[in-house]
Amino acid sequence: VNEPRAELVGRSGEMVNAFDASRIDDLAPRTRSMIQRRRKVLGPAYRLQYANPVEFVRGEGVWLYDVDGRQVLDAYNNVPSVGHCHPHVVEAIRRQAATLNTNTRYLDAKVLDYAEALLATHDEALDNVMFTCTGSEANDLALRVARYHTRAEGVIISRHAYHGVTASAAAISPSLGRHVPLGREVRAIGLPFGMTGYAAAAWMAKEVSGAIADLERHGIQLAAFIVDTLFASDGILADPRGFLAPAVEAVHAASGLFIADEVQPGFGRTGEAMWGYQRHGVKPDIAVMGKPMGNGMPIAGMAARSRILERFGSETRYFNTFGGNSVSIAAAAAVLDVMHDEDLISRARVVGLELRSRIEAAVYGRIEFGELRGAGLYLGLDMRGDGTRDATQLATEFVNSMRNHGVLISATGVQGETLKIRPPLVFRDEHVEIFMAAFSSAMNDIVQ
Ligand SMILES: Cc1ncc(COP(=O)(O)O)c(C=O)c1O
Repeated sequence: VNEPRAELVGRSGEMVNAFDASRIDDLAPRTRSMIQRRRKVLGPAYRLQYANPVEFVRGEGVWLYDVDGRQVLDAYNNVPSVGHCHPHVVEAIRRQAATLNTNTRYLDAKVLDYAEALLATHDEALDNVMFTCTGSEANDLALRVARYHTRAEGVIISRHAYHGVTASAAAISPSLGRHVPLGREVRAIGLPFGMTGYAAAAWMAKEVSGAIADLERHGIQLAAFIVDTLFASDGILADPRGFLAPAVEAVHAASGLFIADEVQPGFGRTGEAMWGYQRHGVKPDIAVMGKPMGNGMPIAGMAARSRILERFGSETRYFNTFGGNSVSIAAAAAVLDVMHDEDLISRARVVGLELRSRIEAAVYGRIEFGELRGAGLYLGLDMRGDGTRDATQLATEFVNSMRNHGVLISATGVQGETLKIRPPLVFRDEHVEIFMAAFSSAMNDIVQ
């Protein structure tokens, strides 16, 4: 199970579930012409999703509306976590934009209120927060801080990690493919897919210890072990709960820091806790946050132990022009309100369990489907080859069939063989029904 597999994205810089430009002639005239305009003006590194790319013009709650007025159920996007265009968040943005929009060089009670409220959701050891605009910037800052504090360079990551697009975040993101080189001081480890109980934890700790030893053999000391605590790009691995704990102990024993990249699991996604690291019962030195933090406004950041920031903060300075600006903070504060008022963590747990059991029942006994993993409203369902088509091909066809039946999902994993199901947290039972109807139709299309 843990054998390294050939990387899909490594072969061509291609993205899982990317639009295949060679099929442009199959598309409707408007879609075709927009893709052609895009090619002319946008840099060529962007990728569109789906064989038949989508053009949305409006969003509301779990619904997106395309240019032809078709309603599409969003079971994929985790940025609009409290729902597309949530009225409370929209009003907070509007009101703040009409009042004042400045930066962290000025005193602002609202920034302090938000910082206090956000830190109250974290482990008490994380007592300082710094704001950025993107998760990549926050990871970049976390790496700088970790290296500054430890005076070391080595970084351990998971085999198919994704941590972002700045130079240093890309250098710890093997899922970007083999044309984006990892840093020489970076070691990627395997994950205990298919393992249960303590065996998974022990195996993970052994991988981390092996990587530390290999770094030291090359004269490099460990600065940090950084993981997405749901391992989304690796194929989604949530269980067994706590399997990270011995690995984190090994990192601390080597004087390294543990950075929890909470960009995917954070803000209640797992339905069990606000943060993915809390599910594992581990205490990070730095927790990186992003995506759903402002429900679409560009706000991200990191919470850290103040002692780790001390020397960095006294010997260097940090100003991020837009990071923590008044409007982004207003959006982020409104997100916390909605999460509380609508009890979204509990809802993610209850609706996530319903969705999971319905999917389990639907695929029971079907050889094309493998393991179903995940937590709360973040599920990964492995596909298996059927003799004529491999798992990657089946997953891609399934994702596109769901899209044609009006539901957005995508795929993930080393070979893009795992269906990625990750709806906004405001998903309800009635949406599970609609999701399952499309799921059955996709099964009929793809695996009959
Ligand atoms: C785990 C993880 N970390 C970091 C990032 C980068 O965040 P951003 O796109 O906001 O720079 C992402 C984005 O997908 C992510 O999934």
